[in-house]
Amino acid sequence: MKERMRVLGIESSCDETAAAVVEDGKRLLSNVINSQIDIHAEYGGVVPEVAARSHLEVVNPVINKALADANCGWKDIDAIAVTYAPGLIGSLLVGSLAARTLAVIHQKPLYKIHHVEAHVYANFITEQAQGINLTLPSSAPDFPMLALIVSGGHSQLVYFRAHGDYDLIGQTQDDAVGEAFDKVAKIIGLPYPGGPSIAKAAALGDPEAYQLPIAKLSGRYDFSFSGLKTAVLRTVQREVGKDFNFPSHELPGLVNDKLRHNIAASFQYTAIKTLVDKTLRAYDDLSPASVIIAGGVAANLELRRQLSEALPTPINYAPIQLCTDNAAMIATLACYRIPLDQAANPRDFEVQPSLSMLSLSQQGAN
Ligand code: KG4
Ligand code: ZN
Repeated sequence: MKERMRVLGIESSCDETAAAVVEDGKRLLSNVINSQIDIHAEYGGVVPEVAARSHLEVVNPVINKALADANCGWKDIDAIAVTYAPGLIGSLLVGSLAARTLAVIHQKPLYKIHHVEAHVYANFITEQAQGINLTLPSSAPDFPMLALIVSGGHSQLVYFRAHGDYDLIGQTQDDAVGEAFDKVAKIIGLPYPGGPSIAKAAALGDPEAYQLPIAKLSGRYDFSFSGLKTAVLRTVQREVGKDFNFPSHELPGLVNDKLRHNIAASFQYTAIKTLVDKTLRAYDDLSPASVIIAGGVAANLELRRQLSEALPTPINYAPIQLCTDNAAMIATLACYRIPLDQAANPRDFEVQPSLSMLSLSQQGAN
């Protein structure tokens, strides 16, 4: 990494339009996030068309604010980094077109960043400019590093030997864990996004009220959450005196507070235990020097509690504001990819809505 490198990161893969400036892969100079949560909450989930239109409205002001907050003009920016995969196609297009245009106009090198890999790099931010008041870790994680990446679209265990050198060792066979939180929240009548609302309701319930299943899978480090979600549905149907044909969208009206809290607590306990069991197994097998959690579900305090209890070593996690989608993680990862990757051609640049980290590591593109 060259001395004092500043990267502008741009993120728009789902329902957050974000821009940030990061220096030397560790120092956060600005972090602007425009969340669309209020817009999508009305529909109970992200509406892709609405998301793309909303990104379009705010992308330029968000970028300008990130530069202004960082006290940077274009001359102070060494490179632009943008999420190109995975995500919603319309959403990815807005951020990447903005980045491509700015790269051409201001003659800056442009780097393509994988969103899921970037979540991990929130853990490398250890310093911040005055005025940003996040609770940051005091040092970056060591390699080899075991990463549990858990978000609304992904649940995977990745073993990193070094920057850009990793294997995807386990993943969900069906729903992502964040998606399971979102679906269970709907069943019991809690607002979108389900993760934070389940966590809040769970604090008032009994995690042992219902015994819910943990899927047994042949993949040593794989997960599954769809059986757990169905078990929740059946339990709620039974508890309100209905059979399995009863439509799930009519259930929230029949669920009382006690049932809601107990289901939230039992589901959260089991979903998190599923993640923790596999992470512990990978830790025992691979003896990594550090364990990190990343992605929106890494904001979950029960995950932090169970994992800290299970593992003999401290776990690394970023502040909640950097666990959910943000552009600081995009800019941070770029600082480590720049020495490894060629800059992208801003005139010939494709987004890849369903490119997994697995194909990225197999391409040897790292
Ligand atoms: O990483 P993220 O912001 O977006 C994706 O890349 O998917 O993750 C969003 C997901 C949502 O499913 C949300 O319900 C979940 O993270 N989430 C949580 C918590 N905060 C956000 N899940 C559990 N507990 C939380 N506190
Ligand atoms: Zn994400």
